[in-house]
Amino acid sequence: MSFSRTAVVTLLALAIAPIAPLAAQPPAAAPKPAAPAWMNPSLDSDTRADLMIHEMTLDEKIQLVHGDGWGVLRDGAFVNARHNDGAGFVPGIPRLGLPDINLADSAYGVRMAALQGRYATALPSVLGMSASWDPDAAFLYGSVIGRELRAMGFNMSIGGGMDLIREPRNGRNFEYSSEDPILSGIMVGQLARGVQSNHIMGDIKHYAVNDQETGRNILDAIIDKRTLRETDLLAFQIAINLAHPAGVMCAYNHINGDYSCENDYTLNQVLKRDWNFKGFVLSDWGGTHSTVKAALAGLDQDQPGDDNFFSDPLKQAVLAGTVPQSRLDDMVHRIVRSMFAVGVIDHPPMPRSVVDPFRGRDDAQKIEEESIVLLKNTGNILPLSPSAVHSIAIIGGHADVGVLSGGGSAQVDSPGGNAIDPTMGASAWGKAVYFPSSPLRYIREQAAPGAVITSDPGTDNNAAAKAAASAQLAIVFVTQWMSEGQDSATLSLPNNQDALVAAVAAANPNTIVVLENGGPVSMPWASNVKAILESWYPGIAGAQAIANILFGRVNPSGKLPVTFAAADADLPHPHITGLTPRTGNNGADAGTRTQPRQRPQEFPVDYNVEGMAVGYRWFQQKNIPPLFPFGFGLSYTHFAYSNLKVNSDAKSVTFDLRNTGSRAGDEIAQVYVTLPASSGEPFRKLAGWKRVALAPGATQTLEIPLDPLYLSIYSTTTDSWSLPNGTYLIEVGGSSASLPLHEKISLGSGSPAAVTLP
Ligand code: BGC
Repeated sequence: MSFSRTAVVTLLALAIAPIAPLAAQPPAAAPKPAAPAWMNPSLDSDTRADLMIHEMTLDEKIQLVHGDGWGVLRDGAFVNARHNDGAGFVPGIPRLGLPDINLADSAYGVRMAALQGRYATALPSVLGMSASWDPDAAFLYGSVIGRELRAMGFNMSIGGGMDLIREPRNGRNFEYSSEDPILSGIMVGQLARGVQSNHIMGDIKHYAVNDQETGRNILDAIIDKRTLRETDLLAFQIAINLAHPAGVMCAYNHINGDYSCENDYTLNQVLKRDWNFKGFVLSDWGGTHSTVKAALAGLDQDQPGDDNFFSDPLKQAVLAGTVPQSRLDDMVHRIVRSMFAVGVIDHPPMPRSVVDPFRGRDDAQKIEEESIVLLKNTGNILPLSPSAVHSIAIIGGHADVGVLSGGGSAQVDSPGGNAIDPTMGASAWGKAVYFPSSPLRYIREQAAPGAVITSDPGTDNNAAAKAAASAQLAIVFVTQWMSEGQDSATLSLPNNQDALVAAVAAANPNTIVVLENGGPVSMPWASNVKAILESWYPGIAGAQAIANILFGRVNPSGKLPVTFAAADADLPHPHITGLTPRTGNNGADAGTRTQPRQRPQEFPVDYNVEGMAVGYRWFQQKNIPPLFPFGFGLSYTHFAYSNLKVNSDAKSVTFDLRNTGSRAGDEIAQVYVTLPASSGEPFRKLAGWKRVALAPGATQTLEIPLDPLYLSIYSTTTDSWSLPNGTYLIEVGGSSASLPLHEKISLGSGSPAAVTLP
């Protein structure tokens, strides 16, 4: 005998009818399953992680320590249904309530937004933002990124680039912060704090010494330990101490013989032991090269994971005991505790929210207005007065339609498509992208209604000179497109733009140059033009910011976070090591039709050439005048420094700063220290700064704290920091090359320095 489904239901209903209450009652609520112990937010993140990990199987643990493959980054690769179209994906464990990790590249904004028809704010480049020397601007920068990642459903940023600018022609300098470890550490640390303030896991990369793109997968960065600790690593130390980021991404290159992602010294000994980093180390994409060596050296997560180093081979290594179970548990602990600590489990991103483009644009503009650096202003040609200017020729740089951005994995998609080639959709790798923020438009808006503002593409020097000659002023926009995977062979502007500027300057004595560039460039025409404005990659509101500075609605206040050398020959490495005419993407031998591709040979890059004399210190030590020094930038007002007092323990300095001009303005007052001769560091080093706003005529007494760490040297014999004994020269002023105040003090307890927050 068989019953239909309806009959079964009816029989059951009849069977329970006698015991059912007569009046209709709400059904008794099923007892709510108790929340697992790890969901108790009053427990600390480590305890919560341990409680959850205790329930995990070996396979679940293995699943967390590698990504799910190249996903949307590679045509034809597997894409998990829950993948959010970012650079990476690590599936969570739903039965335990552990969310997926959806990672997105987000150097100056969220990458690949267009893939899902979304919008992301393009901020100024990180290097540009660092020219503000404003930790609050850095925090805001990171919080824009965190806010938008959240709105798009990502829970981890893989921005946070901060390799020290040892190589000014490095293609990724626009993603990095500066040539000074303290400035970089504080600015990128604040950026990562801003990201994480949105309950989005932050990251700092590429750890470490990924200081050029040429040969990044095959080069070996040779650098002595003391230099490493006092320069490249110090920047990371400061940022990590400030932000406690969830992730640190190890780099592609080797450091002193070992790959960054299997480097016991930098990962285990320095990052995890000495700095007590509690987050996880994830590899750069394809940067893992082994299972056991990498696992034992401190790598916690292999990305994107389809090289299979941390999948089954790691499981087998754990079963065989070549990687201890405790090491795997430590990897998992670091990942899960970071997810609790940052709040991605308690405060997951809201699905189906949208980015606010207007808020993003306002923030981008504010940051850019603090970041533009006025490098030259002969005869106070700037700011332009609308009543006095009746004609301007705008030349070059696609200034009629947009502003340039940096490429590679940092690339943010431009709304409406590339302004110089408006096809909708995601940006193509290797192609310069302009954002639709037109300098021509905003200059027109601020000029007097009757002023004649013409536009010339700058592609023909004679035509450009003619346009310049027929106007009262010429503004030339010059560009230097830079991208991951390639360096610029020289400091010279590409595409003969030096000749363009020279031709325009010869035709019009009132020539102003606006730079949109990834990093320092040489300017053989500098003495022939009246004004030079450094706008970096200025972001989605770049043109408004540039126009506001040109017309004086905003007083420029940025200062260079990197030295501008006059010529390649003045650099510690006049030629980029490993760069040959045959060098292709990442510096690998590209081959030609007649000469087949050769196996790329590993090569050393000797950073001991300059060692600790990185950036401005090199120019000082070698007595080479730069074109524009580190820390330099002009204002439409002037500042005077007086009355220096150095605290006897050198923990702080005080001095008076006065705005001696007739406009309100911000000054970035800088403190440099030269250590006693016994330190072997014969150059001044930045030790502190403060950005202050002063009304015309106003004076303020500033106190700038000096962290003893920044005055210390690292001993490789005792593996510790200490203050050298002797006389310290403290100098204060408005740039590394203009320091009107100075005082000497004696110090030297020899005691180890404590790291404190700024
Ligand atoms: C870059 C990383 C990036 C990763 C994922 C790599 O090529 O070096 O900075 O996060 O790709 O896109």
